[in-house]
Amino acid sequence: MTDTPTEQDVVDVLTTDHHEVLDLLEQMKVTTDPELLRDDADTIISELVRHSVAEEMYVYPAMRKHLPDGDEAVEHDIKEHKELEQTMKKLEGVGAEEPEFRQLLGQLETILRDHVSDEENEQFPGLRANIPRDELVEMATKVEAANTVAPTRPHPLAPNNQVFHKLVGPGVGLVDRLRDKLTHREA
Ligand SMILES: [Fe+2]
Ligand SMILES: [Fe+2]
Repeated sequence: MTDTPTEQDVVDVLTTDHHEVLDLLEQMKVTTDPELLRDDADTIISELVRHSVAEEMYVYPAMRKHLPDGDEAVEHDIKEHKELEQTMKKLEGVGAEEPEFRQLLGQLETILRDHVSDEENEQFPGLRANIPRDELVEMATKVEAANTVAPTRPHPLAPNNQVFHKLVGPGVGLVDRLRDKLTHREA
């Protein structure tokens, strides 16, 4: 945290999200405590749902509008968000000591790395090339505002967040509960 107002644009914010989740996935590879692993998995689920919803609300409409093949790129990205969510829905209720847990994390990482590389190598540079910087900075503000109203864990990624568990709760249905809260469709 700094005292100065953020000058980050939306690409900076979303790129940070990507790498926080990828770093946590790396960290989980050397973590053995099942409770911590389960908690980290919930953190990853909540961060990725929040990130996907923010992109769908504030970024993909701009991609459709400003990128030459924006519609196609957005359809592709949304399809990958759905694949991530399908994997996370399987991960919701799996205990960290079950073999399926590591398998699902591996699957999640593969989809996420591909998706992150599409966004960071193609679509994000496209956004910066086609949208004035002040608009990109304004989009960053919107994405960050969405973070603060979201019932997800605060940055930096923190395990055992009481508010998160009280508002959303871990376990089966987490992905849907988060998406409902974030898009204001109360369950
Ligand atoms: Fe993303
Ligand atoms: Fe995305």
